[in-house]
Amino acid sequence: MKHLTPKLLLLAFAGLLMLASCEYDYYVIPPEPVEPPDTTNDTTAVVDTISFAQEIIPIFNAKCTVCHSGSTAPDLRESKAYNALKNGNFVVANEPDNSALYISLKTGSMKSYISASELKLIRRWILAGAKND
Ligand code: HEC
Repeated sequence: MKHLTPKLLLLAFAGLLMLASCEYDYYVIPPEPVEPPDTTNDTTAVVDTISFAQEIIPIFNAKCTVCHSGSTAPDLRESKAYNALKNGNFVVANEPDNSALYISLKTGSMKSYISASELKLIRRWILAGAKND
């Protein structure tokens, strides 16, 4: 038994060294970079500007006023469109999914008259507050 002691001591010492070096390694590993928060579905983080006159009216002119120019509501002619959409409750500012305009174009009877990219513009315009700008 007695002659084992130095070996045991050596083993214990080696073990301590390994533990110490492991601990040392652990502390020198640089921290993981912090990922920026995912704001994909966070509508409060949307900072968007989109012009009704510059980007939405041209869609109505190209795709809608052939039918929506007075007798079929909403009247989407340039001088009438904003008031017709707001006063007729076709648009709820910031809430495309509660806006008849968006719903009718996405899944309703108007969906064949608009392209996916035009529909995205209308969604962004509503999300950004549906302003007359
Ligand atoms: C071929 C004619 C025609 C075209 C083109 C057309 N619409 Fe319509 N739209 C109608 C008619 C008719 C109605 C009323 C009956 C109905 O809802 O289907 C209507 C209804 C609507 C409504 C009311 C839906 C509701 O739920 O009350 C909206 C909003 C609308 N259209 C938007 C548009 C927009 C925006 C475009 C262009 C991208 C467009 N429409 C293109 C004929 C048309």
